[in-house]
Amino acid sequence: MTFPVHRYRRLRQNAGLLRMVRETSLSTADLIEPFFVCEGSGVRQEISSMPGVSRLSIDNLVSEAKEAYSLGIPAVILFGIPDKKDDLGSEAYNPDGIIQRAIREIKNAVPELVVITDVCIDEYTDHGHCGVVEDGQILNDATLELLSKMALTHAEAGADIVAPSDMMDGRVQAIRKTLDETSHQDKIIMSYAAKYASAFYGPFREAADSSPKFGDRCSYQMDPANTDEGIKEVLQDIEEGADIVMVKPALSYLDIIYRVRHEVHVPIAAYNVSGEYSMVKAASQKGWVDGERVMMEILLSIKRAGAQMILSYFSREVAKFIDR
Ligand code: PBG
Repeated sequence: MTFPVHRYRRLRQNAGLLRMVRETSLSTADLIEPFFVCEGSGVRQEISSMPGVSRLSIDNLVSEAKEAYSLGIPAVILFGIPDKKDDLGSEAYNPDGIIQRAIREIKNAVPELVVITDVCIDEYTDHGHCGVVEDGQILNDATLELLSKMALTHAEAGADIVAPSDMMDGRVQAIRKTLDETSHQDKIIMSYAAKYASAFYGPFREAADSSPKFGDRCSYQMDPANTDEGIKEVLQDIEEGADIVMVKPALSYLDIIYRVRHEVHVPIAAYNVSGEYSMVKAASQKGWVDGERVMMEILLSIKRAGAQMILSYFSREVAKFIDR
């Protein structure tokens, strides 16, 4: 009807014009890089299901975190792989545990780098669940105590942001209360608020050796079919004191990110999870897709949906060729 008055191709004639009318852009400031940290020194153990990602001992972690910072990436999130696991995940809240030492070393070496820690006991329990187990059930309230203790040891070691990823009810309130009572009122909580029970976490569970030894996570993580419930989880976490809320995974949940963006007024993070990363790497290794372009398109789609922060294993790779 409006043709030939309106010709949308007019604005697509050259690279300059394309840049001028571009609505969304990706910046290094949007990125958060995840790292897996293990015991030992000089350790760099490739994770077979995540090409390009390794488990690092603290010395190597510090040098890689430095590299991320020098590329303009403002933050990292740390996952610990302890040598010992038990039924209550006691290494998770050991003040001298793997994560607590890693935080101190990174903060020593690169004080300006924002350090985020994953607060969840699944990497530390021998049963692989994110909560206390009794008679095959995952106990909610008993877990809150452990999560609070864990978050406190992270704050004491110097973490800037604690990120509870367990999906127990009331964990944000419990952690906020513990931090406030111990003069850590300025520590930030980024809650994994709408976290779905997803098969896209597969490669991560190999990396962190954290697959549940019985059953699955469906009694605490969310059903992928639900949208309203995700909004309720997000609103509840904000009410309990979350400063930043996360949607996870990102790619199959862009609608959730978009909806959360319109419902709340706190910063939104999205986790471009391990399976999303590994699928691109695998297809690209086979020559079936252009890995770099697919990576950029995916990250841009997450940004376009409404996330301000993206946790991604692609972070350093992307940072090398985007505008600062
Ligand atoms: C729980 C946790 C998981 C991930 C981040 N935090 C695993 C799970 O819930 O099973 C997955 C991240 C990814 O797949 O990249 N500690």
